Amino acid sequence: MTLSRDVCHDFQDRVARIPIHGLGLSVDVYSPDLLSLLADLTRRQVLPMYLEVFHATSSALAVVRDQTDVPLPYHGEGLWVTQPGAESDPLFQGEARVLASHLALLRSAWSNHECATKHIAGYSFGTYLPPLYTVSSADVVAKNINMVQAIFDQRAALPDGGSPLFLLEMPPLTFFVAGTLSIPAYFRRVTDQAACGLVLDIGHLWTVYRYSGAWRAQSLAQFVDEFLREFPVERVVEIHVAGLAVHESLVSEADVMNSEAPNLLPRWTDAHAVPIPPVLFEMLDQILRCGRLEHLRGMALEVDTKTSDLIADELAWFLERYRKVFHQAIPRGLVAGAPSPSPVPAQFITEPDSVSKSEALAEAYDQYAQVVSSRAEPVGPNWKAPMACAEELDWYRAKYLPYEILHWGGDIEAMFPETCQELAGKQIALDGFVSYWFRLPHPVTRSYDFFDVKIDRFVEFVSEQASDLKALVQREATELRLAYQAASEGPRQSTGTPL
Ligand SMILES: [Fe+2]
Repeated sequence: MTLSRDVCHDFQDRVARIPIHGLGLSVDVYSPDLLSLLADLTRRQVLPMYLEVFHATSSALAVVRDQTDVPLPYHGEGLWVTQPGAESDPLFQGEARVLASHLALLRSAWSNHECATKHIAGYSFGTYLPPLYTVSSADVVAKNINMVQAIFDQRAALPDGGSPLFLLEMPPLTFFVAGTLSIPAYFRRVTDQAACGLVLDIGHLWTVYRYSGAWRAQSLAQFVDEFLREFPVERVVEIHVAGLAVHESLVSEADVMNSEAPNLLPRWTDAHAVPIPPVLFEMLDQILRCGRLEHLRGMALEVDTKTSDLIADELAWFLERYRKVFHQAIPRGLVAGAPSPSPVPAQFITEPDSVSKSEALAEAYDQYAQVVSSRAEPVGPNWKAPMACAEELDWYRAKYLPYEILHWGGDIEAMFPETCQELAGKQIALDGFVSYWFRLPHPVTRSYDFFDVKIDRFVEFVSEQASDLKALVQREATELRLAYQAASEGPRQSTGTPL
């Protein structure tokens, strides 16, 4: 393992090249259409200082680069740094090279990536699953980040001679957390082995308070305080703030629950389309006062899928409220190159990297995929309190995940209207598609795209359930693929979201 002091200096050298980006937006190219959004913001004279652009095609990104002079850091997708085996996976290496080409095209100072995945042990998911918060998982993340940063260094040189910095974002919890390390200790272990920066997303932090069970024992302010003491705040390069809401798959159930137990905290999950709740700005204020944000370079509202009017309103308020506060939050007088104070020194169990260690982690992830998809029970060390919390897991298993497969990111009945009508005539329920989805692993062989996976899997499902409908489902699939491909090429069509 690399000495953490060397890693620290490497990080400081890299981050020193990044100018202050200030207050910006984290946006999708397609949703809302970025060029229309920029026109609306210009008309209202509400101007972001930078735009963090979510993953899109090279041609769409080139259009964006031509249309604006503001800095364009990047929000990558589909590079699953949490997963073991990346070093021998040509798909991972290919994704990293494509990512580097996008960074070079945009001249991005950083590339943000969620510490999460949508593909585990051959099983596909629509939205991010957090990593297993364990020692070996943190070690794999650090190793994968170092590999990707080396690819950036080789392939994405910036005009100043440096290269884009890999940022790792703490992901949201969606009803549960699994592992044996606390989340802040996990990120400290990663940053002690990789010279990356971090993105602290305030809404994600709220979901940690909610779904780690901390809310039962602590006030929100106490929780944030404790979290900051352990988390490597000195590595935070960017802060995100985005909306939270009760997910559409459980709105009616949540209404019932809240009317029965009004003191229950809402079951919010990450939701970029909705207004940002004021509680997140209270948390943000507390974090900005902590005095350890020495490498903060930008704060962005994450606004993909939000209406342009709401974005302009929220950004106007954000600029007004935080323009001065942002600069005050960055402590001055710290000696460049000096290692940052480490309030909780990481305790390393230094184990040699080995095939068996990687296999053990792969097995743990396979078990994790089985638990979250209801094929195994949440038992064993990774599901034990106090680090793990599965008390709300059933919301994910019974509501959120089936909704994701049948409706989210492509509603099956809207995608395959004729096939679904025929299936209904044969009394074949679509619910069977959810269990079919998780019956066997299906490793992906091309760039990950949930919509694409959905099309493939539905064709297989129908072919198995009703072979006489095979030609019909294949025809509808071909039409979908062609329309999708055409939509992905321009910056004026919607294809997906960073959720
Ligand atoms: Fe975020």
